[in-house]
Amino acid sequence: MAERLTDEQTWNSEGYAQHARFVSDLAGEIVVWLAPVRGERILDVGCGDGALTEKLAALGCDMVGVDPSQSFVDASRARGLDARFGDARNLPFDGEFDAVFSNAVLHWVREPEPAARSMRRALKPGGRLAAEFGGHGNVAAIVTALRAAALLHGGDTELAAPWFYPTPDEYAAILRDAGFTVERIGLYARPTPLPTGIEGWLMTFRKPFFDQFEGAVREKALADVVALLRPALCDTHGQWHADYVRLRVLARAV
Ligand code: BEZ
Repeated sequence: MAERLTDEQTWNSEGYAQHARFVSDLAGEIVVWLAPVRGERILDVGCGDGALTEKLAALGCDMVGVDPSQSFVDASRARGLDARFGDARNLPFDGEFDAVFSNAVLHWVREPEPAARSMRRALKPGGRLAAEFGGHGNVAAIVTALRAAALLHGGDTELAAPWFYPTPDEYAAILRDAGFTVERIGLYARPTPLPTGIEGWLMTFRKPFFDQFEGAVREKALADVVALLRPALCDTHGQWHADYVRLRVLARAV
């Protein structure tokens, strides 16, 4: 087995735009749950390259974006947005937002309790949290194929899934403990077309898994993952879908 490499996900705003633009394009339902109102001050936690933050700003909302990737903060600022470098677990805001919004981010935060408390603290009393992220069962086929490839090639199965995919009950309890009342929460299967196929997805979101292998083993591990997934996730026209399951939640600061 190659020496264990870092599990750290790194972000590159250009690669993200090429392989993962669908993330912001498909956020319509959680924006409906947010129900943004012109003039509201809204914090976008994990704003990424700002594509969605910009759409909310265009509706007349006073947006602030926060992201732990400097590449994404720079990309958001290039759109003219107020984007700050920061971590969901330790947001530097106290009682100043009408709403906290987050799309496709909170599954990366493996310490959900401090993140929930930090988002709660950022809200005015009665303010709302509208969030969507990977829920229980998200990308289950992809994770299983990665684990199988790790076992086949003497790799580390832990590198297959560095994510937090809670059930609604589990996440609702975390939010209540942090001072929210939960108004709506549920899991929604959303098979998601992948514009650059499964390899584009794997290299955008799980490169650290493949980087644990070297040379020909790396190539073989990737080929094995693709072959294992093809029957489940690639249709007869060659279109790949990721087996996304979204957890959506609307909660209010008490
Ligand atoms: C998701 O949005 O569910 C997701 C994105 C990247 C990696 C894993 C999950």
